Amino acid sequence: MEVDSITSAASPLINDTFLPYRAAANYLSEILHQNNHPMPLVGIICGSGLSGLSNAMDEPKTAQISVKYSKIPAFPKHCTVEGHKGEVVFGTFAGVPTICFRGRFHSYEGYDMKTVVLPVHVMRCLCVKVLIVTNAAGGLNPNFHVGDLVCVKEHFALPHLTGMNSLMGPNDNELGPRFPSTGNTYDEHLRKTAQTTANTLNMNFFKPHGTYCFVSGPMFESKPEGRFLQQIGGDCVGMSTVPEVVAANHCGLKVLCLSLITNEVIVENDASHEKVLEAVSNRSEQIELFVREIIKGLGDTKFLETIPDLSPISLDKATAQFQKQKQEKRDKIKSRLTISFRTLVFGATCLTVGSLATTALMGKRRV
Ligand code: HPA
Repeated sequence: MEVDSITSAASPLINDTFLPYRAAANYLSEILHQNNHPMPLVGIICGSGLSGLSNAMDEPKTAQISVKYSKIPAFPKHCTVEGHKGEVVFGTFAGVPTICFRGRFHSYEGYDMKTVVLPVHVMRCLCVKVLIVTNAAGGLNPNFHVGDLVCVKEHFALPHLTGMNSLMGPNDNELGPRFPSTGNTYDEHLRKTAQTTANTLNMNFFKPHGTYCFVSGPMFESKPEGRFLQQIGGDCVGMSTVPEVVAANHCGLKVLCLSLITNEVIVENDASHEKVLEAVSNRSEQIELFVREIIKGLGDTKFLETIPDLSPISLDKATAQFQKQKQEKRDKIKSRLTISFRTLVFGATCLTVGSLATTALMGKRRV
């Protein structure tokens, strides 16, 4: 499509805030087409230290496609938190085409909420049906211990209730409604599948339901804060995931959320990122196998086929508009730099001429 044609009256401009995920999805879908790779049906966002989930994809590794975040339009150039890889991997789990985001963007790093949920919107544009999110969390429920894996059934998100919400701003009606309901955010069938899979694998550390409290971070909670969250019904607490889950629910993806308890907030209250990564590393292989088996189950039972296809999102036009916008920004910077450079040259010339004239005058006076 001609870039200029998108500005015509027949083709109104897409809201700027809807462009980044469309452009990113278009880029990835072109890569998939070029490589004759199936479009993903399941998406995974890996939490701290769980980037190894893509290791459990079907062999051979050569059939997988990985793309660095730095190459994807509109994506931040790298993940800044230790334990997050910063790349997208396409592959299959037991034959089910899957996209795996190895590393997420957190609001505590300074990313705005639209960037935090960028991977979810990209998945929606690629028509992914099921989202599996994993995270590390602090335990609030006295029956939850380090190493337990909690299947989240509900969440409590204070930042979301007080203005830090990934759905704020212009609503993309192609993705979902302005006022989405949240009643069935954590899909019941997926939770049941997780439970049966955990039973089959004899995972006695699996907790079939819990309420995850989202906090902004980046500091770990104090004991009183932990007690507060416990008293309002929280079972675990973390600094991620809910923004993505809320966005996924808004745009029609079914969600399964797994939280690994890495520290006990009220009992010990001595959490550190190193401890979190250590606890994750002790369980990572089991979680990789578990997620693989869940996806296999979704394929075997034909559950994915029972979910209606999501309507396609228009991508090409958005990409053209996104690129045009980027070029305009670059041109603006270039022209500002050129003006600054010219001013500098002019100033330097004036100074040189001025100082030469002064020197000449002073020389004449001495004579
Ligand atoms: N609090 C918040 N986020 C976390 C914690 C915690 O105790 N542990 C791992 N992520």
